[in-house]
Amino acid sequence: MSLAGNQPAESFFLRADNPISVAVVGVGVFGRNHARVYQELEQQGEPVRLVGVVDPDLDRADAVAREFGCRAFGSVEQMLTTHSEVRAASVAAPTVHHLEVARALMEAGIDVLIEKPLAASLAEANELVDLAATHKRVVQVGHLERFNPAVRATIPLITQPMFFEVHRLSVFTPRSLDVDVVLDLMIHDLDIVLAFANSPVKEVRAVGLPILSGKVDIANVRLEFESGCVANFTASRVSTERVRKLRFFQPQQYVSVDYGRQEVLVFTVGADASAAGAPTVNPQIQVAKPPVTSEEPLHAELKSFLHAVRERSTPVVPLVDGRRALALALDIVAAIREHGKKVGLAGIVKAKG
Ligand SMILES: NC(=O)c1ccc[n+]([C@@H]2O[C@H](COP(=O)([O-])OP(=O)(O)OC[C@H]3O[C@@H](n4cnc5c(N)ncnc54)[C@H](O)[C@@H]3O)[C@@H](O)[C@H]2O)c1
Repeated sequence: MSLAGNQPAESFFLRADNPISVAVVGVGVFGRNHARVYQELEQQGEPVRLVGVVDPDLDRADAVAREFGCRAFGSVEQMLTTHSEVRAASVAAPTVHHLEVARALMEAGIDVLIEKPLAASLAEANELVDLAATHKRVVQVGHLERFNPAVRATIPLITQPMFFEVHRLSVFTPRSLDVDVVLDLMIHDLDIVLAFANSPVKEVRAVGLPILSGKVDIANVRLEFESGCVANFTASRVSTERVRKLRFFQPQQYVSVDYGRQEVLVFTVGADASAAGAPTVNPQIQVAKPPVTSEEPLHAELKSFLHAVRERSTPVVPLVDGRRALALALDIVAAIREHGKKVGLAGIVKAKG
């Protein structure tokens, strides 16, 4: 449990009627969204106040600050000389900078939401875990799909998933190319399946190729869990279509989750058909569409983070989960490289994760 300290000063700042002063560090494509949502939450009456954005690209920081009515800074240190009251911050710098940025924030007593993937290596992730413990900080990892209403509606349906089929395909954009597609996109699904399968991974098989960038742009992975459950994942950032779907089978049931449409479909074979044992020509199949209340996942994620900050409670996606997804993603990257070596794919051996 990443519970943080409850010193008197901290509890004063975090009283329910006191808005939490927040900042966003790194305001490129995704950090700008964090700034937008913090401002929207404030306008909707949440006790939060966006006081600053930080980016070494000052033009970008200025533009985002103007758009969302706060101050722009070139570094965390600069911001803290003006805004020592900042209590929480989103870290949306490129992954290779997550550790240095989060370290500066935690050392200043600030709780952090660190975008996914948590870090570029397990050593960095471990350092983040140590920093959070030393400084008694609330740390959440930005595994956004956990807050997708379709995923939330699926959790009560899980009984004994034995087979997952997951597709996350997107068109090419020149962003997040500092990491393989496994750490950029597939990690969302790895986190969800790890949470749903609830069993240690026994075997990883993987193949991947660099297509347009110097890193792996498309990958296919097969995981086998201790429970016997199997999961197949395909992730691509070089496709002509956008697909974000997770499907799984469990006894008498097939569940299909569309992350993009925020829809869940459940196909259940009737008790009569399943009890008979013999093949049934016309089995009773019930189709259900559980109600899903649409919400922007980032709204739900940041609200949940602010709640954990205020209550000093363990966030929905704690550091340990971010580290677990990163460890698996790095194992997959290693398996892709191993496979590439075995079959003589020169590009794969060169491409670093
Ligand atoms: N949760 C999600 O669904 C999701 C989606 C997209 C991106 N992300 C994650 O968000 C992070 C940022 O991705 P992006 O697509 O916005 O990248 P981006 O390149 O568009 O933006 C990164 C910004 O960080 C700034 N920056 C660089 N070094 C910095 C530093 N030391 N301190 C502060 N700012 C710094 C850059 O100038 C840039 O403006 C990545 O970790 C990425 O994986 C998460």
